Amino acid sequence: MDTDMMIDNEFHDDYDEWLQCLNSLWCGKKVDVIKRIIKMFTSPKEIVLDPFMGDGTTVEVANTLDRKAIGFEINEKYISAVIERLEGHRDSYEIIEDSCINITKYLYEESVDLCIATPPWLNMYHRNHAGHKKQNDFTLLHKNIGKTSSYSCYLSNLAKAFSEVYEVLKPNKMCIVIVMDMRKRDRLYPLHIDLANIMADIGFIIDDLIIWDSRKEHSTLKAVSNSCVYRTNIVHEYICIFKKE
Ligand SMILES: C[S@@+](CC[C@H](N)C(=O)[O-])C[C@H]1O[C@@H](n2cnc3c(N)ncnc32)[C@H](O)[C@@H]1O
Repeated sequence: MDTDMMIDNEFHDDYDEWLQCLNSLWCGKKVDVIKRIIKMFTSPKEIVLDPFMGDGTTVEVANTLDRKAIGFEINEKYISAVIERLEGHRDSYEIIEDSCINITKYLYEESVDLCIATPPWLNMYHRNHAGHKKQNDFTLLHKNIGKTSSYSCYLSNLAKAFSEVYEVLKPNKMCIVIVMDMRKRDRLYPLHIDLANIMADIGFIIDDLIIWDSRKEHSTLKAVSNSCVYRTNIVHEYICIFKKE
């Protein structure tokens, strides 16, 4: 291990944490994973974008680490909760209530230093006999990129979102996407593989891949076997590190 590498980064006072960063297998809580990623890939005052802000972990951690955070979110309940939680924190974050499909309407080209994204889960809606969608909330349906009629629509929604991210990311900077492969009924959707393909089409190169044992985050995993079929519980996520060259 080259200890000189540590001198200029923010892990200089925590050698064990720096060693953990260099492993391809991580474990621990989401908040610690996000903290590690931000420290690895940015310096203070730089801009961190979360296209799917959700409960605001990335925005909050970035803020605490003296980075400027920008979060896009479509669900106003999340937005109010994050604003309430961050009250009194240093004022270096911006929350945009709009779809991340519109990022380039708000941010300048090549202005972001790091993107960290945990896309929404695929939540396929079904058609009823008359061919109508079952959900009532059509507004959210059109914006929530996880709510689609098929896995391929979901992937093309992700492609739209990450094309926007590509435009606003500075060259040589990273877009980190945290995803879990999914099983729906009998089918496995290998999202990390499909994601790597759509990111390559956009122009990103895959720079690294970390497996995150996320059991500390999802403690309610159940056995998913029955007497005749063997099925594993998925207890890991992929931290996919894409670079804009
Ligand atoms: C898995 S959560 C994100 C968790 C969050 N990054 C965190 O670490 O706390 C996914 C979020 O994406 C949001 N979302 C879905 N479609 C969106 C869109 N088109 N634009 C912005 N946010 C969207 C959902 O409302 C949900 O809150």
